[in-house]
Amino acid sequence: AESELQLVARRIRSFPDFPIPGVLFRDMSPLLKDPDSFRASISLLASHLKKTHDGKIDYIAGLDSRGFLFGPSLAQELGVGCVLIRKRGKLPGPTLSASYTLEYGKAELEIQRDALEPGQRVVVVDDLLATGGTMRAACELLGQLQAKVLECVSLMELTSLKGRERLGTVPFFSLLQYE
Ligand code: PRP
Ligand code: MG
Repeated sequence: AESELQLVARRIRSFPDFPIPGVLFRDMSPLLKDPDSFRASISLLASHLKKTHDGKIDYIAGLDSRGFLFGPSLAQELGVGCVLIRKRGKLPGPTLSASYTLEYGKAELEIQRDALEPGQRVVVVDDLLATGGTMRAACELLGQLQAKVLECVSLMELTSLKGRERLGTVPFFSLLQYE
């Protein structure tokens, strides 16, 4: 029988030269469309986290916007809540922000000041780790709230961009690796 990981891997398709020439875009639309495959992706991420941080996770932090496709489902599977890290200007009330570099210029991520208490233990989830700029900015924000980032996880990782090196000592885990 097909393994859970094969079920996931088969439902990522690749589009050359999107969104710009030279980039091979990994499209997870087929994964989201197929309930068994999506469930497998959540179950694999959750079993990794149960193994490494059994019972110690207080919250999942999901990253705007594709990380939101996984955050709440992963949190439910682990029996914890999900907090939102959003792009600038989307969150009401007092917020903290961290900027990061994109291919052209800069962007900012924000979190609500009351999202977490100091010392709470969080796992960050996104769909993809590329340069690691987004994940790193998320870790900075959580650090500003004095939360403890136990680990960062993503569905996919583009290994040749060495994004995980930008996360320093924070552990990182991905289900699927591409060059
Ligand atoms: C994409 C992807 C990751 C990030 C990875 O998000 O969803 O969040 O880029 O790149 P990095 O590791 O080089 O930072 P994008 O900013 O395109 O926005 P979206 O999630 O709202 O589609
Ligand atoms: Mg994103």
